[in-house]
Amino acid sequence: MDLPKIHSITKKILVALLGGFLLLFVLFHASANLLILRHDEGAWYSAFCHFMGTNWIVKVFEIVLLGFILLHVLFTLWLVLTNRLARPVRYRQPQRSKTHSTSKLMALSGILIFVCLIMHFTDFYFVKVGWVKGEYMVKTEKLQDPETMSLLQMAQQWGMTPEELVDELEQESAMYTEENGDAAETKAYIDGLRSKLSVVKIMQRASQEGIITQNGQWIRHLTYDERQTLRQALPESDPEPDFYYMARAKFKNLYLVVMYLLFFALLLVHMLHAFPSAFQTLGLSNYKYAPAIEVIGKIYAWLVTLMFTATVVLVYLGV
Ligand code: HEM
Repeated sequence: MDLPKIHSITKKILVALLGGFLLLFVLFHASANLLILRHDEGAWYSAFCHFMGTNWIVKVFEIVLLGFILLHVLFTLWLVLTNRLARPVRYRQPQRSKTHSTSKLMALSGILIFVCLIMHFTDFYFVKVGWVKGEYMVKTEKLQDPETMSLLQMAQQWGMTPEELVDELEQESAMYTEENGDAAETKAYIDGLRSKLSVVKIMQRASQEGIITQNGQWIRHLTYDERQTLRQALPESDPEPDFYYMARAKFKNLYLVVMYLLFFALLLVHMLHAFPSAFQTLGLSNYKYAPAIEVIGKIYAWLVTLMFTATVVLVYLGV
C-alpha cells in the first residue's frame, strides 16, 4: 500500500505538538470541571458553560481542538502503519526493549481513550450538538419578550387563561373580518400570540415546579421537546444544555462512575509517557533536564487525573 510520504520524524513532531496542545486542554478542562463541586445551583459552572457555548473565539477553539484530537490519532496510526510497512517481515525474536513496550502501551491506551471519549461525548458534547437528548436551561430574561408579557398581562386583566384569551380574540377578529374584510394583519397578530402560548406554558411550569434558580437567572430542567418548542417560538432564546445538573445526575450512577475512573486511569497512563516524550521529540530535553521533566510530567499527569477523579467521586458521594 502506498501512503503519502512524510518523514517519520515530521510525523513524530506533529504528534508531539498536537499532544502538547491536548495536554494543556485537559488541565484547563479538569480545572473548570471543579466548578461542578460548588453547591450554588450551578451558577458558576453554568456561567462558564454559557461563555464557552456563546463566545465565537471559543467556538473556533472547539473545532480546532476536535480537529487536533483526530489529527493526533490519525498521525499516530499513520506512524505505526508506516513503521510496520517498513518492516513487513516481523522479527523472529519478539522485541523486549522498553521503548517498544512503551509505544505499544501508548497506542493501546490512546485507542481506548478514543473509545472513552465517544462515551464522554455521548454524555455531554453530543447533547450540545443535538445528537443526544439531555436537560436544558434558558435565561429567564430571554422568555420575557414583549409579546409574551403582554399576552400574560391581558389574560390576567381579563380574568382568563392565555389559551382562552387567544381563542376569544380569534373569534372576535373573525366577526370583525366578516364585517370589514382585510383579515391578513389581524390573523398575523393572532398567530403571533398563539405561537407564544407554548412559551407561556413553559413559564407557568417553571413557576409551579420551582425550576427557576434562586437568583432568578435561569429556568432549568427543560426537556428536549421544550427546547425545540422554544427554538421555534423564540429563536433568540437559544436554550442550552444544563451540564451542571446533567453531570450531577450522571455521576450518581455507580456504573458510570466506574467507567469514568477507568477512563481517567487510561488518561493517566497515556499522559505519564506523553509528557516527557513530547519534550524529547521536540528537542527540549537533554541529559541535564530529562530527570526534572520526568518529575514535572508525573506531577502534571497526577494533578490532572486527581482533579477529574475528585469531581466524579465527590459528586457520587454527595459532598
Ligand atoms: C470529571 C470529568 C469530566 C466532566 C464532568 C466533563 C464534562 C464535559 C462537558 C460538560 C463537556 C461539554 C462542554 C461544552 O461543549 O460546552 C465536555 C466536553 C469535552 N470533554 Fe469533558 N469532562 C470530563 C472529563 C474529560 C476528560 C478526561 C477528557 C479528555 C481526555 C475530556 C475531553 C472533552 C472534550 C475533548 C470535550 C469537547 C470539547 C469541549 O466542548 O470542550 N473530558 N466535557
